[in-house]
Amino acid sequence: MAVDLLLGLQWGDEGKGKIVDVLTRNYDIIARFQGGPNAGHTLEFDGIKHVLHTIPSGIFHENAANVVGNGVVIDPVIFRKELQNLEKFNIDISSRLLISRKAHLILPTHRLLDAASEAAKGKAKIGSTLKGIGPAYMDKTGRNGMRVGDLELDGWRDKYRALANKHEAMIQFYDVDLQYNLKELEAEFLLGVQALKKIPIIDSEEYLYQAQKKGKRILAEGAQGSMLDIDFGTYPYVTSSNTTAAGACTGLGIAPNMIREVYGIFKAYATRVGSGPFPTELFDDDGARIARIGNEFGATTGRPRRCGWLDLVALKYAVRINGVTQLMMMKADVLSGMPKIKVCTAYHYKGEVIEHLPFNIEAENVTPVYTEMPGWSQDLTELSEADALPGPLKNYIAFLEQELEVPVRIVSVGPDRTQTIQRQPAESQ
Ligand code: IMP
Repeated sequence: MAVDLLLGLQWGDEGKGKIVDVLTRNYDIIARFQGGPNAGHTLEFDGIKHVLHTIPSGIFHENAANVVGNGVVIDPVIFRKELQNLEKFNIDISSRLLISRKAHLILPTHRLLDAASEAAKGKAKIGSTLKGIGPAYMDKTGRNGMRVGDLELDGWRDKYRALANKHEAMIQFYDVDLQYNLKELEAEFLLGVQALKKIPIIDSEEYLYQAQKKGKRILAEGAQGSMLDIDFGTYPYVTSSNTTAAGACTGLGIAPNMIREVYGIFKAYATRVGSGPFPTELFDDDGARIARIGNEFGATTGRPRRCGWLDLVALKYAVRINGVTQLMMMKADVLSGMPKIKVCTAYHYKGEVIEHLPFNIEAENVTPVYTEMPGWSQDLTELSEADALPGPLKNYIAFLEQELEVPVRIVSVGPDRTQTIQRQPAESQ
């Protein structure tokens, strides 16, 4: 009986969707445990690019069941669009997808509240994806939320109305000019609810418990990244859920002692979308080059991502908090052609050199201390063997393994499923 976890170790967009898709053949069940349609998990195969927001990334595999866990917040409107996008692939969704009764719903007014709250913050805005994530989780923890299971009960519309009315009064509180037509938004919401109700709604913690007992292999799929965790991220510039390993326990009902492997996904450099501290952010040609070659635009919002060098201080922190057992390095190909690669190994902070994340990590307090390493010029995108990786990249990986004390098991060299290099444990290399 065991569950493996897969998590992003940076600020999201590490490439979790691709790796879940690659790993799915080893699992019977893929289960999303937190976040909502703020996520954009990109998968590419057979020349087609797919972006999933709520539906787990195992959906393209016939033999995998995909569970949307209780820790996820679901917007029926976006969920319906995702289902529609999948229609053309003739996937029998209702036999592959299951939704937790305890997952909370994002209402149209949650999205409006998100927009009002961000507009009212002005320059201090979080840079939210405006999908209603924060307000939905606020209602959850405030014990006011609506859950998927409510839709099966009589009277859910009254509950909805009362909550939406309250939200409208709250919107008034923000002194911002927000134009909306709630009737239209509600019509879309109802269509979404109808689509949602066609998918099996289950007690997912019970389902997962029984599956574990039967020896089914389960992969818990995280969204966003550890530095966006509500507790351990760069608060308040974070998302509203626990993106770290503990979130899989609360977001699926999995006991901590059932967790086996923790796969930590990171890019060979760093990116961040939205506002907030990012000590290694680049504002020069190197940053622009990474953004261009890495096609660093948000999968959900299309916003350009901020790019920078790998931050080992933040990465070590994430590895420890999550108990990562295997690392997966994404987008190594994007760094090809850079004469020098920099890695941040410490920060200058208030006249000292520190190797941990300070409480106050704002740019004015923190300057990165870099270690410089030689780059490589070879194109990696056609490579399939770890041995064939260029020497400087092997050195870069060896340096990271030594610093992080965890092996790098996968090196991704392109967006396609096939552009994935497995590395063997050191003793058998
Ligand atoms: P929210 O979760 O949409 O409210 O956004 C809060 C912060 O997390 C913003 O900086 C977003 O850009 C960021 N964020 C949310 N979801 C993702 C994601 O899936 N990838 C990267 N950043 C994200």
